[in-house]
Amino acid sequence: MALFSKELGIDLGTMYIRVVEGGQVVLQEPTVAAIVVQEQKMVAWGQEAQDMLGRVPESLEVMRPLQSGVIADYEVTEYMLEALLRKVSGSVRLFRPTVMITVPHGVTSVESRAVHEATLQAGSREVSLIQQPLAAAIGVDLPIGTPSGNMLICLGGGTTQAAVLAMYGIVAAETLRSGGMALDEAIVSYVRKKYGLIIGQLTAEQIKIKIGAAVPQDEEQSLEIQGQDQVTGLPRPATLTTGEAVEAMREPLSDIVETARRVLEKTPPELVSDIIDRGVAITGGGALLRGVDKLLTKELGVPAYRVDNPTTCTAEGAARAIGMHALIRRNLPVV
Ligand SMILES: Nc1ncnc2c1ncn2[C@@H]1O[C@H](COP(=O)(O)OP(=O)(O)OP(=O)(O)O)[C@@H](O)[C@H]1O
Ligand SMILES: [Mg+2]
Repeated sequence: MALFSKELGIDLGTMYIRVVEGGQVVLQEPTVAAIVVQEQKMVAWGQEAQDMLGRVPESLEVMRPLQSGVIADYEVTEYMLEALLRKVSGSVRLFRPTVMITVPHGVTSVESRAVHEATLQAGSREVSLIQQPLAAAIGVDLPIGTPSGNMLICLGGGTTQAAVLAMYGIVAAETLRSGGMALDEAIVSYVRKKYGLIIGQLTAEQIKIKIGAAVPQDEEQSLEIQGQDQVTGLPRPATLTTGEAVEAMREPLSDIVETARRVLEKTPPELVSDIIDRGVAITGGGALLRGVDKLLTKELGVPAYRVDNPTTCTAEGAARAIGMHALIRRNLPVV
């Protein structure tokens, strides 16, 4: 039986769920589900459900079952995991996969038990949990098996996690229960205040991705967007620039910097000197924000760099961790 069993690394993120098998990303879908309100039945998930956001009749609800990295709707999360396992394993009932699934660092035992239970109920044979910073560090090949210090900052959609790792474990870490979505929200409120225009979260995210940056750029870009006039309710365009996006995101970005700074402050001095030599790895979708490496380097006084595989490293590391179980077992969350 074990011979045929698949081994899957699953990164259960607030915005995306990613699955790695045999070193390959085999699935990447938005963590979004469409539910028939009356029957509480899932009719679509992933990209298909995301495309329905803001476009469904009252009988349907399009929702994110995870908030700030933890399960907010247990049943819907289980439905999604079930659909996902069916998609990647074909006939789940015959060959249940062995799964290593991620949870944010610092979640409560109730929160991690919910992830364990939902993954098991969804049709796995065996489930282990791994903290996202540890999985990410394995996924980017940081030398965390040694007694030297390694630092990583995960910039997710719903969380920000800064961690120092050594000897396959987390030495110091902090989790902020907000991330890239808070940057989008800051853009929404900036545009409302400055232009009297209401825009949606997806538009704000487009502004951030297309012209946004963490620090002022030499080259200013601009983007025309359509909003809804706050007073008349009618559609009206506005043009946003890179400088405005930087200004809009200043506050949530400084929360991110502060989280990383607090972790450095509580790191033993010997490890800090290793981190200064090696630099700080930035992972997660937020690592793709222009200039975020510059901002962190400047504010922390330690060189920070974006890894090559920021969005997939956590799932890749989770998959790899299955084979490292004996080495890391002591440092995994117990359920
Ligand atoms: N090019 C880009 N520039 C800026 N931000 C980006 C870019 N691409 C993706 N993002 C942001 O990255 C975030 C998603 O990152 P990621 O996929 O790592 O999150 P997640 O794992 O689902 O969430 P979490 O780990 O917090 O639970 C979103 O906020 C998205 O807007
Ligand atoms: Mg993540």
